[in-house]
Amino acid sequence: NKDVYVLGIETSCDETAASIVKNGTEIVSNVVASQIESHKRFGGVVPEIASRHHVEQITLVIEEALARAQMTPDELSAVAVTEGPGLVGALLVGVNAAKAFAFAHQLPLVGVHHIAGHIYANRLEQEMEFPLLALVISGGHTELIYMKEHGHFEVIGETRDDAAGEAYDKVARTLDLPYPGGPHIDRLAHASDNAIQFPRVWLEEGSYDFSFSGLKSAVLNYMHNAKQRGEDIKPEHIAAGFQNSVVEVVTTKALRAAEQYSVRQVIAAGGVAANRGLRTSLEAAFKEKSIPFFIPSLPLCTDNAAMIAAAGTVMFEKGIRGTMKMNGRPGMEL
Ligand code: KG4
Ligand code: ZN
Repeated sequence: NKDVYVLGIETSCDETAASIVKNGTEIVSNVVASQIESHKRFGGVVPEIASRHHVEQITLVIEEALARAQMTPDELSAVAVTEGPGLVGALLVGVNAAKAFAFAHQLPLVGVHHIAGHIYANRLEQEMEFPLLALVISGGHTELIYMKEHGHFEVIGETRDDAAGEAYDKVARTLDLPYPGGPHIDRLAHASDNAIQFPRVWLEEGSYDFSFSGLKSAVLNYMHNAKQRGEDIKPEHIAAGFQNSVVEVVTTKALRAAEQYSVRQVIAAGGVAANRGLRTSLEAAFKEKSIPFFIPSLPLCTDNAAMIAAAGTVMFEKGIRGTMKMNGRPGMEL
């Protein structure tokens, strides 16, 4: 009945992060070095710049996570690292750091899927009840995942083109908003007194998949046409119209899936789960059907290593181990 302390490491995109989590549920320390400032002027994450920052930061971030926890490596039970998906050069930095750390301190190594991490962020604030439906909605993913128990993931719907956050960022860019654009669209939409009507993309009857590239094009076409007609473009009306479309489709599909699969709990995760419009809409929809619904607090919604440590703890306890042959897996499947 010894306590389990797992060091989590996350470098799949543009945050260099390390964290120590106790028993898969309690954050002991959580360090995130964000690179957003370095990518801002390019309007998106530049892979080569991301890798370089990870290389510069990773050792410091791991040391800081241990220091803040007031722990030494020999007090740890395992090292968990994001194995994929993500940018290959970025993943490799975390994977190699984790391998070196595990080897040097003779600790078990666990490779974690980034999305499993986003889902397990919830366990740091809330007990998970199964069967469960997870909506993972971020810059890289838009997925509906059914879980009948710990460590078991069934993808029942996913995006066929852009991820929701990607669509947010692209629309924001056309509106000349800074990267990452999601929070700016959210803010504009919130302040708007009117919304342009954009299409809702439902795909085939009964499908839980998503498609956002058509919506993004509809926004671009609208702006193009308005410009040609010499009309005033009101960014807040566009932001509100775009957001309404995303929110309605995501809420409707998540609710339908939760009912069809008779889940006991619905959780949301990923950067876009921080969206105020989406949060309000999901909360209202699940409340009406009396289905328990949770979203982790903002720092746990966006990329962090505590979520990787939390997911890694479950895998560690199931006896799953990585080897010194572990590599970054950009296209890793859940
Ligand atoms: O989970 P995350 O930090 O990284 C990925 O794994 O992708 O998500 C980042 C994404 C970005 O696309 C960002 O624009 C979006 O989340 N985002 C938002 C909001 N806050 C962050 N999108 C809409 N509304 C927000 N409030
Ligand atoms: Zn993420």
